[in-house]
Amino acid sequence: GKGNYPHFMLKEIYEQPGVIGDTLRSMWNPASGAIDLPPLDIDLAAISRITLVACGTSYLGAMVAKYWFEKVARIAADIDIASEFRYRDTPLEADGLAIFISQSGETIDTLAALRHAKEAGQKTIAIVNVPESTMAREADAVLPTLAGPEIGVASTKAFTCQLVLLACLVIATARARGAISGAEEARLSNAIAEVPSRAAEVLNGDEAIQALAAEVAEARDVLYIGRNTGYPIALEGALKLKEISYIHAEGYAAGELKHGPIALIDDTVPVIVVAPSDALFEKTFSNMQEVMARGGKVIFMSDAKGCAHIGKEAFATIELPHVHPFVAPILYAIPVQLLAYHVAVIKGTDVDQPRNLAKSVTVE
Ligand code: M6R
Repeated sequence: GKGNYPHFMLKEIYEQPGVIGDTLRSMWNPASGAIDLPPLDIDLAAISRITLVACGTSYLGAMVAKYWFEKVARIAADIDIASEFRYRDTPLEADGLAIFISQSGETIDTLAALRHAKEAGQKTIAIVNVPESTMAREADAVLPTLAGPEIGVASTKAFTCQLVLLACLVIATARARGAISGAEEARLSNAIAEVPSRAAEVLNGDEAIQALAAEVAEARDVLYIGRNTGYPIALEGALKLKEISYIHAEGYAAGELKHGPIALIDDTVPVIVVAPSDALFEKTFSNMQEVMARGGKVIFMSDAKGCAHIGKEAFATIELPHVHPFVAPILYAIPVQLLAYHVAVIKGTDVDQPRNLAKSVTVE
């Protein structure tokens, strides 16, 4: 049941510190303190290229992983939406690895894409939250997320568990390929180990997020912007808001704003800026200033350092704990979930069962 929560979605958001921890422990060697995946029967040192395929929020998990695989494991990684991948004739390399990400493990397009990749000679991994699902049975290897049953149609805890699992897979791949030093691996692993407690801190800031929801609920359109792994989080924020509050929302790479979408901005448009203090902070910051110069109502998500930088300029700030930039997308996923949730509650929509949507899309 929902326990003391008014909706499954809120319960599932609040379960995240626990289930992220469970997922993490399943890929962790307590004796050595190192990431240790279950045996995969796939030689990660021998793969030439990675293709990640999924739908919806799981696709945005794939997008975060693309940035990670490239930067940390120094391997080329392509991403695709399953309904596109399955009908495209992508040339796939003989030593390619294809990774399919799905909460349910039953999404028809992702399943068809998995079959297509197998036929094309790819090694396949399924990352699923339902271990007895069709994808889990058909893939060469399975990495289960331990999010527990997710009832709300909006995916929340399954997403952050996918991210933490993918982060571990990226580190294992980097190690197998000799792409990472022991010291760097230790830094990234420590950053991952902190995620459950940092996620709990993010949830402690829920009231401040809830306080902003009334403003967003008034809007007709909302933009989300971010760079690097903050870009898929911007897309995820927009997807969450659309699907449960029915407010039109778009996510953009912050650098793309001036190529069109900035024309939408006036003083009725809230712009959510995903801006952890990382190597690209200044770039995102200047995009935010461009938005403010056009009257856009900026809601700025950053850590103490980033928020100090902005002073009183933004309409509002959401302060998150400072974390290593590698794990920032996992933490920044949470406030965009909470914001969408509180806006939907104000709008009075059916949060757990939004109109026109099904939890698992098993028809094309
Ligand atoms: O079960 P899957 O992860 O394969 O589902 C994919 C999408 O249908 C799903 O993530 C959908 O986008 C969610 N409703 C988003 O919150």
